[in-house]
Amino acid sequence: MVSDTASAAQAATTAASFGSGEQTAAATQVDAKAQVVAGEELLSVSNVSLSFGGVKAITDISFDIKKGEIRAIIGPNGAGKTSMLNVINGFYHPQEGRIRFRGKTRRRMKPHQAASSGIARTFQNVALFRGMSTLDNVMSGRSLKMKRGLLWQMLHIGPARDEEIAHRYVVERIIDFLEIAHIRKQPVGKLPYGLQKRVELGRAMAMEPDLLLLDEPMAGMNLEEKEDMSRFILDLNNEFGTTIALIEHDMGVVMDLADRVVVLDYGKKIADGTPAEVQANQAVIDAYLGVAH
Ligand SMILES: Nc1ncnc2c1ncn2[C@@H]1O[C@H](COP(=O)(O)OP(=O)(O)OP(=O)(O)O)[C@@H](O)[C@H]1O
Ligand SMILES: [Mg+2]
Repeated sequence: MVSDTASAAQAATTAASFGSGEQTAAATQVDAKAQVVAGEELLSVSNVSLSFGGVKAITDISFDIKKGEIRAIIGPNGAGKTSMLNVINGFYHPQEGRIRFRGKTRRRMKPHQAASSGIARTFQNVALFRGMSTLDNVMSGRSLKMKRGLLWQMLHIGPARDEEIAHRYVVERIIDFLEIAHIRKQPVGKLPYGLQKRVELGRAMAMEPDLLLLDEPMAGMNLEEKEDMSRFILDLNNEFGTTIALIEHDMGVVMDLADRVVVLDYGKKIADGTPAEVQANQAVIDAYLGVAH
């Protein structure tokens, strides 16, 4: 019974925190960001190498992600960006190197273990339950947080019902935040691509991750959709303090969003710094222009 109360209380606390939505003044955000980048490490990747048979996808890469920052991972096609996210979320197991998350060196883990430790992600190609509604897709992100068994959920009795009400409140807050209330009942498979990407972000947010991995969240979007998505990512970072690692090809978006950028090319790290620093880096310019190695 103690855990019933604890889980319902936790869901209620979560609901309350999503309900507050406090804004921070723009000026203090700049100072706060400087502190973030100088601050506490959330995740570090040390000397990671990953190969598939003869293909070296990642070679001896090290970088860190600070708590509260937006960290971009960029590089030309096939540079190893998605592979890097797959290593971070436990989908691929590197042959060499180690990952430290929240101060602890991580043992080999599966994606669901990474998820329950606080890492959520979206995919380069949208991966939603196409026949299910927006609401149910976002709700599915809560499954790790739900303590009651399926039978309890189906019967809607006792603590399970209280818990579901609290979870639904969180989900409704996320739906409002992402401005997708008008499509909450629609099957996602029929939605325009830009909105599907937004629903996928909602599902990842529903996991309340400490670290959110976004693989090309603006791919295939028009300018207006990109602006909306940029705003959601910035607000998510500012209002909820979520740390974000983001793969993105659009340099304008990277400049606007990222606190720091790590640049990969042919599986190697070629630069790491502020957006302005990496944009002026000759190795980065060469990689993007396709200068021969
Ligand atoms: N499961 C896999 N099996 C074999 N090779 C793979 C696998 N996943 C990735 N690779 C290879 O690893 C390299 C890096 O691929 P990855 O998808 O990580 O690149 P990327 O930087 O995300 O590229 P893009 O910008 O096109 O998405 C490529 O040569 C790719 O073919
Ligand atoms: Mg990729």
